[in-house]
Amino acid sequence: MANPSMLSLIKTKRDGSEHSREELAWLVSNVKEIPDYQLSAWLMAVVLRGMTISETTHLTDLMAHSGQVMNLSDVPGPCADKHSTGGVGDKVTLVLAPLVASAGVTVAKLSGRGLGHTGGTVDKVEAIPGFTPEIPIEQFKQQLREIQIALASQTGELAPADGVLYAMRDVTGTVESIPLIAASVLSKKIASGADVILLDVKTGSGAFMKDDASAKALADTMMEVGRRLNKQVVCVVSEMGQPLGHAVGHSNEVAEAIQTLQGKGPEDLTELCVRLGGLILLGAGAVSTREAGEAKLREAIVSGAAIDKFREFVKAQGGDPRVIESPELMPQPRLRVPVEATQEGYVQQLDALPIGIACKDLGGGRLFKGAPLDLAVGVELKKKVGDRVEKGETLAYLLVNDEAKLAEATESVQSAYRIGPTPASAPDLIRAV
Ligand code: URA
Repeated sequence: MANPSMLSLIKTKRDGSEHSREELAWLVSNVKEIPDYQLSAWLMAVVLRGMTISETTHLTDLMAHSGQVMNLSDVPGPCADKHSTGGVGDKVTLVLAPLVASAGVTVAKLSGRGLGHTGGTVDKVEAIPGFTPEIPIEQFKQQLREIQIALASQTGELAPADGVLYAMRDVTGTVESIPLIAASVLSKKIASGADVILLDVKTGSGAFMKDDASAKALADTMMEVGRRLNKQVVCVVSEMGQPLGHAVGHSNEVAEAIQTLQGKGPEDLTELCVRLGGLILLGAGAVSTREAGEAKLREAIVSGAAIDKFREFVKAQGGDPRVIESPELMPQPRLRVPVEATQEGYVQQLDALPIGIACKDLGGGRLFKGAPLDLAVGVELKKKVGDRVEKGETLAYLLVNDEAKLAEATESVQSAYRIGPTPASAPDLIRAV
């Protein structure tokens, strides 16, 4: 079909009508040839007009089949995959995948790059010298058979249509849409061929869904699309009002994930990984209760099995495992600049969105398609919700390479903190399962 078809698709969606499967099939199979301006106009129309559940199901199915759908039947045991809908400081995959694999359940992980103000696992692992997330399907499967863990990006053979739409959404303000997020996430999970799919749906200022009701609506959509496509999907709605852990960036997030696998990580990150992992172990039939799964995972951290699995995983994908002992082998910033408290009190709120924006402004996010990232920059949070702060005390450090970006990032981080006279406590990490 020639270019005018895209024009008619844009008009159909602009006017709030429903696309047929055939129209969506045409779009997905021509996605690489459609001019950027038409694709972005269509994406914006979807953001504004939405999609029915049947359109979302067709789009997911077509995107999943835009490349190969992995057949993991020659990998022993059930395979699990996990995905987050995007957050700030969300390095859960880097901890959870080796942790679950070390407890005996195979993890076939298909990940994405940064999106909007949120970071992506594929960008983060590239901070490890030599690590490649772009591995052929055969290597992916071989790794699953040999070490029970592999991570691939969706480019090339797997869900390539998501690769195109994802990169376009990142730079056109078209991320925040339930059907587009659902299709993007689930198409990758279907393409990975996993039997157990756990989705971590983030809620709060740092998430694309800003409140629990819209996060629940996204979770409901993904479970319904999964049901229609015969995939069992478990969704957890989890807190993203403040960033997860203390590190926001790339190298520093990998370093924090390593500490967590060694049992020295922040409490919120450790807790979330253990809770999600317990559900995966239960879903895979490796334990008979979630609590038993959690106990097994805590044991894997204490025994060193979790960090050993991370070492094996990094080596298998060409990375330098010495980053475990020497995180400074990853890109490091030139400057570490403190942001100070302008008043004393307790941190009542630490808004994840301006922290994510500060990291992006420092060079940790993309402003246009394919832009290179500075993997050294980011934010290191010293104070989080509930902490006592004195005037002039350091709230956070900015990890900086380009000083021209410092003033704006400092302002963003200052604006993220609300400090008041009364003690506050952090909200519940898990809102719903
Ligand atoms: N993660 C994805 O893979 N896609 C989205 O749209 C959001 C988060």
